[in-house]
Amino acid sequence: MKTLAIETSCDDTSVGIVNFDSQIFTVDALLAYSQIQDHQQYGGVVPEIASRLHYDKILEVIKNIGFDTIKDVDFISVTVHPWLPGSLVVGKAVASLLASYFTKPLVHVNHIYGHLFSLLLDRKTSELQFPLVVLTASGGHNDIYVVTDSATEEAHQFWWYRIKKVWYTLDDAAGECFDKVARMLWGPYPGGQRILEKALQGKPNSDVEFKRIFLSKEGFEFSFSWMKSQVSFLLKQLEKKWTPLTEELICDIAYEFQEAVVEVMIKKLIRAWIAFDAKTLWLAGGVSCNDRLREYLQSYAKEKMPETVVLRPMKKVYSMDNAAMIGLAWILEFTNK
Ligand code: KG4
Ligand code: ZN
Repeated sequence: MKTLAIETSCDDTSVGIVNFDSQIFTVDALLAYSQIQDHQQYGGVVPEIASRLHYDKILEVIKNIGFDTIKDVDFISVTVHPWLPGSLVVGKAVASLLASYFTKPLVHVNHIYGHLFSLLLDRKTSELQFPLVVLTASGGHNDIYVVTDSATEEAHQFWWYRIKKVWYTLDDAAGECFDKVARMLWGPYPGGQRILEKALQGKPNSDVEFKRIFLSKEGFEFSFSWMKSQVSFLLKQLEKKWTPLTEELICDIAYEFQEAVVEVMIKKLIRAWIAFDAKTLWLAGGVSCNDRLREYLQSYAKEKMPETVVLRPMKKVYSMDNAAMIGLAWILEFTNK
């Protein structure tokens, strides 16, 4: 089964072709126009600019995939929810037009389920061991899901999988928090990767210390807004005392901030792993590109749960927003019907 997939929920105009041969999902093509440079001067994504750019670029990206290729697909899938309404509508309009012109079925996909199953791209489905616990952490979402292969009543059904949201952030997502803290410290959007780079030069036992928000609380909830406020408060205190924000201090703040976020996310994920007796742990979404997050989980897993498999998407591009994951989530939904 072959699908043409379109993703325009935020700042990437992404189009892909995904193939499924009953064993493995392969990505035949994946092209995108990234708007990062267009939003950088504003310090974050500007919704109005995002939707105009999707409108300007989408046909060019589809042309590069090749209109002839669309004739051969079995279905067309498109992200319809959640995120920026003006951006989503561009993808939806183009997808419905193509579906109508080429007389192909059109399937609406939830963006988060795309991230959730992005780990299956280029990976054999037979490799999976259930139950799975998944952390999807991105610029707009931060959720923990449990995926089982047997029915539970309240779970959403996907093919042979059953998925259930265990918990989500009460305010900001982790990626959003990385971006906002990076902006407070020095610079341009997006900030996740830059925090990681600065943190590598920071010291473990500096005077900078942040609370691990909600870590002592039972349950799986996160509050990244609170985490971000601690940095903002520290910067105000430094300013009052006329303490210069040196490169060394920036690196120490980045280090401690990243440790605090990573520790909370991984320890909550482990809590879910214990509660659901998981065999596999997945990290998905843009924040799963963070090497420290994976390293922390892998070293914890090696010591405390050697039987458990820890996975993240096969390629960095599958962690970030991309159309291939939308092609995949769509196939899963269709197969279930
Ligand atoms: O999945 P994604 O491309 O888009 C959304 O669905 O939001 O994720 C983008 C987010 C941004 O907030 C970015 O700062 C964050 O992922 N990110 C990272 C890293 N690379 C990207 N966060 C932490 N560490 C990284 N290395
Ligand atoms: Zn996303």
